[in-house]
This record gives sequence, C-alpha cells and structure tokens, in this order.
Amino acid sequence: MNIDGILDKQDLTKEEIKFLLAAEGDDKKKLFDRALQVKLEHLDNYVHLRGLIEYSNICTKYCLYCGVRSKNPNFTRYQLSDDEVIECAKLAHELGYGSVALQSGERSDKEFTDKITLLVKEIKKIDNGSLGITLSLGEQTEETYRRWFEAGAHRYLLRIEASNEELYYKIHPQDAKHDFKTRLNCIDTLLKLGYQTGTGVMVGLPFQTLDDLAGDLLFFQRKDVAMVGMGPFIPHPDTPLWQYKDQIPTAEKRMELTLKMIAILRLMMPEINMVAATANQTVDPMGREKAIAVGANVIMPNLTPNEFRENYLIYPDKACVKDKPDQCQTCLDVRLAAIGHKVLYNAWGDSLAFRKKNPASTL
Ligand code: 5AD
Ligand code: FES
Repeated sequence: MNIDGILDKQDLTKEEIKFLLAAEGDDKKKLFDRALQVKLEHLDNYVHLRGLIEYSNICTKYCLYCGVRSKNPNFTRYQLSDDEVIECAKLAHELGYGSVALQSGERSDKEFTDKITLLVKEIKKIDNGSLGITLSLGEQTEETYRRWFEAGAHRYLLRIEASNEELYYKIHPQDAKHDFKTRLNCIDTLLKLGYQTGTGVMVGLPFQTLDDLAGDLLFFQRKDVAMVGMGPFIPHPDTPLWQYKDQIPTAEKRMELTLKMIAILRLMMPEINMVAATANQTVDPMGREKAIAVGANVIMPNLTPNEFRENYLIYPDKACVKDKPDQCQTCLDVRLAAIGHKVLYNAWGDSLAFRKKNPASTL
C-alpha cells in the first residue's frame, strides 16, 4: 500500500485506515500535513469555542474507566445551583464564546430532566438566545431528548466509547444500565430529532486494537454525525480499568494514536466539527494545539467555578483545573496564534457538514 494514493481519498477502506494508523516517520508527517491542508481548505483556520459547564458529578452509572462513576466514594458529589449555571453561561457570552456545553454525570429522573429543561430555557434568555447550547448528559428517553431540543438545545454529545460491541462490554459492565444497543439507539434518536449530533471514543483503551479504531472511524462516517470528540484514555486509580494501566500503550503513544485518529477522520469527513479534547492537554501540555494542527477545530474551555472542578475528575490530573476563565481566554488566543489559527468569537460555530443539510443553522 502506498500512502500518496490514500491521502486523497474520502472513502477509505478499513485496511487503508489501519495502514494510516500504523504510519511512522515520513508517512506519518504526510498524513498530518494532508489533514491540516484538508481542514484549511474546507473550514479555514478558525477554532470554535464551547464554554464547558460541568453541571454535576452525581452519576448513576459506573463505567469501568470513569473517575466519577457512582461506585467511587473518594470525592464530594456536587450539583451547581441554577444561579451558578446562569452565571457561567453569562460569562461565556461576555467572553464571546458563542456557545456553551452543559455536561453532567448521568441521571434520568424527573427532577433532573425537568431541571435541565428549565436551565436550557434560562440560558436561551441571555441576550435573546444568542448562545448556542450543546448538551452532554448521557442516555435519555426520546421524550426527554425532544423536550430539551424544544427548550432550545441544538447540539448533543454522546460518545459511543467503543463501536465494537465486544470491546464495549470490556469497558462497561454488561448490565441493564450499560447496554450497547441502548447507546446506539440514543445516537440514532438524537440524529432523528435534528440535533447536531456528536459522538466519539477514547483512544488507547485496554483491549483496543487498530482494527477497533478503524471500525470506530467508519462508524462515525456511516452515522454521518456532525461532530466527533476523541481523546486518549487516561487510567484513573479509583476505577476497575486501572489494573490494566501497564498493558496499554504509553501516554505518548496514546496521544499520537489520537492525533492519527483525528487526522484520518479529517480526511474522511472534511466538514465536521472535531474537538481537541481536554484529555489531549492532560497527556501532553501542547496536546490541544497538536490536535488543532492535525484537523480538530473546536476547543471547550472550562467555565465551571474553580471550587467544583477538582471534583469532576473523570481522569486524574485534568488540565486547567486551576485556571480562571479569563486566563483561559488569553492563554487560548496566544496558543492558537502560535500555530496559525484564530478563535471565531461571538458565533455558534455549527459544523459545515450540518449547515449544508440544515440551511437554517448558522456559523
Ligand atoms: N480517560 C479518558 N477519557 C475518559 N472519559 C471518561 N473516563 C475517561 C478516562 N479515564 C471520557 C468518556 C466520556 C467523557 C465524558 O469522558 O469518553 O464520554
Ligand atoms: Fe459512565 Fe462517567 S460513569 S462516563
């Protein structure tokens, strides 16, 4: 197989993707350069921001990799007050972020779903609906998803985590609460309801093969999602998957594999939004910039009040836990300028892929 013949294709075969995932040296550089070129051709050098609000770490699930799983008693559970959420959203607006992302541990009780409906409506009132709203609140019923959509949320992130069912059950307990088919159905429901739907996986999980990762990229393309988020897996000592920490690739390799995943997906889906996940920055201080430089175009600066952040440690040593939001902004502008990119302020930043299918949506 020859790299030059592959880099101009959008419809890559699984074998070609695996070839690119294994690329080293000159071939790897060609992949990264081509991915950046494809991004710049389609999306220019803009980066979109989503002000991240980590609403609550109360979670009913216990995924085997996740530090905020319900079965971890080693930290304080919190839920932001309504005022705290609205203050975060106002701050996002003042800083010109254009959009917020509301993320939380998973709950589906009525008290929670009603509260989210109310919060979405309140955020929408800020400056006459000028903020875009992304939700990342796990698996819910179609009715709940519809209610939140009608309240004003227009994007939803639900990572599939692993598109291979067998691998899925190696990183989740196999029980009613962690059902692969339910997760797939949720993604289909979100797409059907008209959400700008995002999904994604962790890279460098125990038991994960290049075949799995290639399958993940083909899954994103098959589902024709509008957004993808991928980041390196980071073992957390309070979780069951910690025991495999010595059997996974090094942090450097997980980072590099994540960059290859981003670059290859940019070739396959030139117009989607791809986030440079915070996990990248945790593994490598330049991780987010590196992800942007190989095809990502979205960053989610954390707006959660600092006193709560250390309790939202999905994985250890999460980046920016001590930064103040305005510091984040200066830091981002400078860091992105250094790699020839710039933030597009005061815009929703819907993905081009989604805008083409939905002429009413806006940049
Ligand atoms: N390492 C990296 N990412 C993680 N996530 C959860 N736990 C970890 C971990 N240990 C990711 C999952 C989830 C998102 C909120 O965070 O992909 O969807
Ligand atoms: Fe499932 Fe945190 S418990 S991602």
